[in-house]
Parts: sequence; C-alpha cells; structure tokens
Amino acid sequence: MRTLLDLPKAHLHLHLEGAMRPATLADFATTAGEAAPATRGFTSFAEFGGMYRDAVAFLRTPDQLARITREVVADAAESGAVWIEAQMNPMFYVPRFGSVEEVLELVIAEGQAEADRLGIGFGLMVCALRDAPPEAAEELARVGVRYVGRGAVSFGLASDESLFPPAPFERAFAIAREGGLVSTPHAGELLGPDSVRDAIDLLGARRIQHGVRAVEDPALVERLAAEGVVLDVCPTSNVELFVVPEIGQHPLPALLEAGVRCTINGDDPLLFGPGLLEEYETARTVLGLSDEQLAGVARTSLEAAAAPAELIATQVAAVDAWLAAPA
Ligand code: HPA
Ligand code: ZN
Repeated sequence: MRTLLDLPKAHLHLHLEGAMRPATLADFATTAGEAAPATRGFTSFAEFGGMYRDAVAFLRTPDQLARITREVVADAAESGAVWIEAQMNPMFYVPRFGSVEEVLELVIAEGQAEADRLGIGFGLMVCALRDAPPEAAEELARVGVRYVGRGAVSFGLASDESLFPPAPFERAFAIAREGGLVSTPHAGELLGPDSVRDAIDLLGARRIQHGVRAVEDPALVERLAAEGVVLDVCPTSNVELFVVPEIGQHPLPALLEAGVRCTINGDDPLLFGPGLLEEYETARTVLGLSDEQLAGVARTSLEAAAAPAELIATQVAAVDAWLAAPA
C-alpha cells in the first residue's frame, strides 16, 4: 500500500493562524483568563471570518506567534510535507508587538528554524487583506519584496472576495511581482469565473488559492489547462464555506480530468478540521483519485512551490519513486 504520508508534497494554501492547533488556542485562552473562542458552527463566510479574527485576537505576544509558526511547520512535516508555504498578514500584530518588518522577520526566522530542524523547507506568503484599503496592500507588497531571497516567496490576497473583487489590488500585485514575489491571490471561491480571469489578467496570478469555481466556465477551464495556471484547492474548506454542497460533488476530479494543474491543501484546519494528510486521504477515498492522480497532484505542488530548485528536483524524483513502488 502506497501511503499518502510517504508521498512527498508541498503545502501551498494554509493560513498561519487558521492552522493553529486547537490545544494551543485553548492554552492561550487559559493564559488570557478567558474562554476559548468558538471555531465551529459558522453559517456564512462572514461568521467564519469573525471566528478567524477572534482566534487571532488571542495571539498577543511574539512568543505566541513564534509557537504557532513552529507548530504549523511541525504539523505539515507530520503530514509528509517537504515544503510549506504558510500565509499571514502582519497587520494584526503591528498594534500589539512590533513593526511589519519585525513580525515578518519573526515568522520567517521561526518557520525556517523549525523547517531546518525537521529537514523540510519553509517559505512565507505575505498576504494582503481585501477588506483593508488597496494602499495598505501596496505598502505591504513594498515591505514584502525586501524579504525576497530571505524567506518571503509569494504575495496573497485573502478575506471576502464577494465584497472586494481583485481590480483595486492591481498595483499591489505589480509591486509584488516586480520585486520577485509569486502572485498567489485567493479567487474563484466566493465569486465565479470572472474573478478567476481577473486574478490572472489583473493580478498576474500563476497560482490561485482555490479557483475551483472556474469549473463553471468550460472556456476558462480550457484556458487554465493550456496556460498551466495552478489551483491550490482545499476540498473540505469548500464544503465548510458553502462553495460546494457536499464533498462528493467537489470539482477537483473534473478539473484534473480537464488537465488543470491542481494541488490539495488544508486552508484553515483550526476551523475546518482536516490537515494536509487528511485532505489527501479524502481525495483518495471520497473523490476517488487514483494513485497516478495523487502523485500528479503532489508533483504539481512541488513544481508550483516557490521553493529552491534543488528541493523541487529531489522531491519530484521521490514522487516518481513513490508511484513506481508496488501498490
Ligand atoms: N478565503 C478567503 N479568505 C480566507 C480564507 C478563505 O478560504 N481562509 C482564511 N482567509
Ligand atoms: Zn485560504
């Protein structure tokens, strides 16, 4: 039996705070002398976002941010990830304990130290927020590019896509791309094909976080396949946030069949439940992906990772070896 734990993979769509261990959040609540916040039972994206921010509110010291960063990297390694690209927005922490630079430096230093210890790779996706002014995203991009070559690898865009479409963030993404960050916005989750097209055409996205609603437009699906745009898909998240009605109807198999390059990811395990390995297990047992398809997904995750070329080459070869071994 080829175990999915042994399949080398890159975790490319993961929110740092949304990947916090529930026990760690409970610890922080105890430290604060408060009840742990709810992380389940949201009935809309807005409620989900509120719970996300409630959890972030318990991160009040640099040590706490350092701890979750180390734990998120360790959990990725436990899932068989050889590269983790976690995303976060430093702005939450600036009023609490440091400048944007200090926050980025802390997360990069802790993430890289833990990844080194575990023999895997770590990169930071600097993530702007749609509900903040575009000028804030532009400033974040300017700071982020100063960490290219020193841990920052990509530039994201999160929060409510349906209220804040991509167009106003064009300049921020131009700054990020020109500075060497890979463009990796969320799109095609809460809005449909037009938002995916805008992410590509206006934001220069080569990897899209989610992107699954592209499936609503066959011409766009063809374009994604032809251009090799990668979708960083999070199956459970899409069910939990009402993007697809139930896991059995997830479009991942259809997108793969159409030749779209997709990766499998956890998004926010604190709020959705499954981690990276469980998402791969679900893809195998519920969505019916073959080992060839799962190896293809893992290969795509490595090839699309903003990781060192040597890590990618070594691990892609390891994926091939995984598939070549007896089933
Ligand atoms: N979509 C948009 N923003 C987010 C998400 C998501 O799935 N998770 C955390 N922030
Ligand atoms: Zn996400």
